[in-house]
Amino acid sequence: MSNESMAKGPSARKEIEDGLCFFKGQIMPLAEATVGVATHALNYGTGCFEGIRAYWNEDAGQLYILKGLEHYQRLLRSAKILKISVPYSAQELLEWTVKILSLNGFRQDVYIRPLAFKAAQLIKVTLTGVRDDLAIFAVPMGDYVSTQGLKVTVSNWQRIADNIIPSRAKVTGAYINAALASDAATADGYDEAIMLGQDGQVAEASSSNLFIVRDNKVITSPVTADILEGITRQAVFELAHDIGLATEERAIDRTELYVADEVFLCGTGVQLAGVVEIDHRAIGDGTMGPLTRRLQSLYFDAVRGNDSRYRHWLTPVYGGGN
Ligand SMILES: Cc1ncc(COP(=O)(O)O)c(C=O)c1O
Repeated sequence: MSNESMAKGPSARKEIEDGLCFFKGQIMPLAEATVGVATHALNYGTGCFEGIRAYWNEDAGQLYILKGLEHYQRLLRSAKILKISVPYSAQELLEWTVKILSLNGFRQDVYIRPLAFKAAQLIKVTLTGVRDDLAIFAVPMGDYVSTQGLKVTVSNWQRIADNIIPSRAKVTGAYINAALASDAATADGYDEAIMLGQDGQVAEASSSNLFIVRDNKVITSPVTADILEGITRQAVFELAHDIGLATEERAIDRTELYVADEVFLCGTGVQLAGVVEIDHRAIGDGTMGPLTRRLQSLYFDAVRGNDSRYRHWLTPVYGGGN
């Protein structure tokens, strides 16, 4: 795969400084979109969010939002679980996003962060009767992790179980779990952490879903394995199907990771990234496998608007609908 297709721009660690965002029902400078220290979500983690990418296509002069509607539908599902009321439909949220991106005039790859949260400044651990708010901001962003071969570890931090903190909701407070796992993995020299569920079977990586390939079959944990129901995961099913690969959703044992022919991670942030080593065991021959490469190359063409078969995944930001 050429470097052309990867996300380009600042790393995820750059501090967010300027730009226009959506907050309190209107567009405003990001610098003015602030909350008080007593804000419920800041104290208790009572918010839910999305991460959406938009890819710049230089030839088309177009910025494409990837699966925007699906992300906003998931945001509304997360909000429902947390009893956060969002006074917009998924379509309206997508339209606000188009507006923010075009007003910012982005001509590069960007990452969009919608956040719905308990906004009241009060000391009461509950979900009911607490005023809600919503913000959407966007920042230029390149690759979140390398897409060219990750060395990962199975974390001793377990993935949150659905009846501890809802795992299919993208809950702000739940990301402590991901941060603990990912921080420990990187401190030990790995690129990422794979997390097991309470039953000791594979759930997902710290901020992405996981697939293994065994005997040409593309396999991932079911949505009941305490995973986030990933939108990229669905995209992988579609791509795999289109190139005639069999897919399966079933429980994955830890040691299946070690003996898999190929392993890859997928998610908005990580995009589609091959895993070449897990717990110091080479996956396959220790390089990204052929099916991972094929799916990755298809994925990058699709998200950047270079494959017309997947144009329905994309919402163009600039007029003309090209
Ligand atoms: C915990 C977790 N799992 C999976 C994913 C992948 O989800 P998606 O493909 O919808 O970005 C993410 C990223 O958003 C995540 O944070």
